[in-house]
Amino acid sequence: MYRSKFSPSDWKFDEHIADIFDTHIRQSTPFYDEIQRMIVELANVFIVDNAIICDLGTATGEVIYNLNIKNPSRNLTFYAIENSVPMLKKAKLKCEEFENVVYINEDINNFIFPQSNLIISVYTLQFINKNNRQDIINKIYDSLEKGGAFILCEKIIIDNEFIANSYVKFHHDLKKRNKISNDKIIEKENSLINVMYPITYEENCHIIQRSGFSTIQTFFQWYNFICIIAIKD
Ligand SMILES: C[S@@+](CC[C@H](N)C(=O)[O-])C[C@H]1O[C@@H](n2cnc3c(N)ncnc32)[C@H](O)[C@@H]1O
Repeated sequence: MYRSKFSPSDWKFDEHIADIFDTHIRQSTPFYDEIQRMIVELANVFIVDNAIICDLGTATGEVIYNLNIKNPSRNLTFYAIENSVPMLKKAKLKCEEFENVVYINEDINNFIFPQSNLIISVYTLQFINKNNRQDIINKIYDSLEKGGAFILCEKIIIDNEFIANSYVKFHHDLKKRNKISNDKIIEKENSLINVMYPITYEENCHIIQRSGFSTIQTFFQWYNFICIIAIKD
């Protein structure tokens, strides 16, 4: 795919997107609420008292909010890493009742990971340049405690063109069912070309494995959307 330099119509997590994000992601991402529910369920298998949890690309703080609500008395500490100020503001608002969240306005590429029990990335690493992906996953592996876990949700690309085109159509159909207009669907698709870098399922598994994880399990897939859990044994 041809990628030009940054253009004014490129997708940005700016103030406008921050305002509509919670509605938009539910309209445009399959089973968003169910995935969030599963993440809490799965995370609870790995959460210990006093656990440190990093949420990469925290957006409006949905993951941290949900985990906090379900774990009121375990003395957890959350790191919310987010390079968009408007998004981080929304996360602060959503999580204002909690005092255990450290908000970090930083690029994940530069983030020095604390020793953690759980690291979660829900539809975020796809926005990181492919060349930096291995380095970030290596840091994730290194910073996890033994027995800790990495939860990754990503949009993926599919090697087979016929299947890939079908999945794109099914995704557009989902958006239409959720009342997004055809024009908006095309506009968003074009705006993501220079800013989103999805890789295949196999590439995702490969870089996770190469960093040192030996247990890798897919716990969700809807066409070209996947969620994986990797455990540091
Ligand atoms: C699709 S949203 C993530 C959704 C969110 N994790 C959730 O569970 O609802 C992607 C987020 O990652 C952030 N992001 C993208 N690239 C980033 C980077 N290099 N460093 C930090 N945050 C980044 C964006 O600003 C955006 O808020």
